[in-house]
Amino acid sequence: MTKKQGLTRGLTNYGDNEFAAYLRKSFARSMGISNTMLDKPIVGIAMTPSGFNNCHRSMPDLVDAVSRGVLAAGALPRAFPTISLGEVFLNPTSMVYRNLMAMDTEEMVTAQPMDAVVMIGGCDKTVPAQLMAAASANIPTIQLVTGPMSTGRHRGERLGACTDCRRFWAKFRANEIDQAEISTIEGKLSTTAGSCGVMGTASTMACIAETLGMSLPDSAAIPAVHSARLVAAEESGTAIVELIKKPILPSDLITEKSVENAFRVLMAISGSTNAIVHLTAVAGRRGIRISDQRINEISDETPVLVNLKPVGEGYMEDFFAAGGMRAVLHELKDLLHLDTVNVTGQTLAEVLDEPLDWVDRTTIKSSDKPISDVGGLINVKGNIAPDGAIFKRAAATPALFEVEGRAVVFENLEDLANRIDDPDLDVEANDILVLKNAGPIAAGMPEAGYLPIPKKLAQRGVKDMVRLSDARMSGTAFGTIILHISPEAGIGGPLAAIENGDKIRFSVKNKRIDLLVDDNTIAERLQNKPKITPPLRGYKALYSKTVLQAPEGCDFDFLVHADSESA
Ligand code: FES
Repeated sequence: MTKKQGLTRGLTNYGDNEFAAYLRKSFARSMGISNTMLDKPIVGIAMTPSGFNNCHRSMPDLVDAVSRGVLAAGALPRAFPTISLGEVFLNPTSMVYRNLMAMDTEEMVTAQPMDAVVMIGGCDKTVPAQLMAAASANIPTIQLVTGPMSTGRHRGERLGACTDCRRFWAKFRANEIDQAEISTIEGKLSTTAGSCGVMGTASTMACIAETLGMSLPDSAAIPAVHSARLVAAEESGTAIVELIKKPILPSDLITEKSVENAFRVLMAISGSTNAIVHLTAVAGRRGIRISDQRINEISDETPVLVNLKPVGEGYMEDFFAAGGMRAVLHELKDLLHLDTVNVTGQTLAEVLDEPLDWVDRTTIKSSDKPISDVGGLINVKGNIAPDGAIFKRAAATPALFEVEGRAVVFENLEDLANRIDDPDLDVEANDILVLKNAGPIAAGMPEAGYLPIPKKLAQRGVKDMVRLSDARMSGTAFGTIILHISPEAGIGGPLAAIENGDKIRFSVKNKRIDLLVDDNTIAERLQNKPKITPPLRGYKALYSKTVLQAPEGCDFDFLVHADSESA
């Protein structure tokens, strides 16, 4: 009789289950594992080391620590690889491969015999991919993150990837620092294991994973090189074995309430714009959709509490020392759904009943003295973005919140690269820079929304301009930037209709972005636009045929809201 636990889960079908179990065990014994161990529950450890992923440099230590915890709790750990996505090493952009990693992870979790899994990720797209996989595979899962990098130093100043990469590069473009200094800084921005050390996408997603209940409490902010990171890994190993017994599934954790909590935390930490897309995709796997209007309500009623770059001053190591996620959740207590559950089985109310240690108010503000009364991110709509766009008001210049400007248009990424620094470019500081054809289907939605300030303006001291596109922006970037315009230009969205010299009106108060051109002219212009040619083979063909737009999380249409059939 086949039991559906451990090694005998999901047997290969030869038409004889007993033989399949016998064969599998025989091969498992070739790994030198005793029968006693092979009869225990099995915990998979989805590991993601890669020579192309600096953020996962500590993976072997983390896998060791998780394994230690699993063994101590009486189960058999089995680490297995999945693809790994190192943010800066992927072309055209890591975003194209997030769904591939989610599919790889889901399939390996459900195809291999494991009763539960600890997923270890860290770099920007890896945690979203693993959470999407967990939501669909729906076996007991704990998300462990690699943790953020620690800062480096340059002439007495702390540096962290990658807000400071952009800040110093902007100074270099403006001739404020020379080639020798920018080269020196290059070796000081990213100096330890771990993910980018500011409140970028990786850190935001770590905070979101903890808020969803998918990670252990207090684990999101622990620096990658801190001993507590290894303790959290070991504790994830022991906790996952308990989780098998309960059992608590991702479907019990990722609920409408926990997703709303996660959106609220995203606002309070002034997290990455990318996290909206990722959280939407994770929630979509459980059939949950929080409307644009509800996200704006959450933003309007949630104070910004966390003073970290790119919006504020500090780094993730400060956030950890200041009290981390527990301190933030305490401040938000009155706004959160407290009956959500985490991987330990505790409700959020029970977590927050535990006494709060000292909080450093330089980094984590109290809700009665916030950095801002309203949240960091909002949805904007208008005739340029009928299905919506995202604006990170916390990282923008308030003087540019109510403006009307002349469009300076770049047709695609190549056009942008070719002309942005052209001394003859017809552009002034109060113009609005427009980038088209950088959306999910046309270009894989790269982080190109942070259009550089044209060199001739940068050298005149211009630090910010209104910029809009269907691209994304790095979570570590800042500026008055409207992103994720949907539908994208490449599939005929109205963004494609904007021409040089058109007037555009942007209003944060009204949450609108509008092209001041009449509807008939817009329709005529769109009719004459050439269609993009999709790739014909391989993963990229699948991607371009099935990827959804940003408001649907850029997931594949056939992966949304479906449990894994083999789970
Ligand atoms: Fe990995 Fe920034 S490059 S998180």
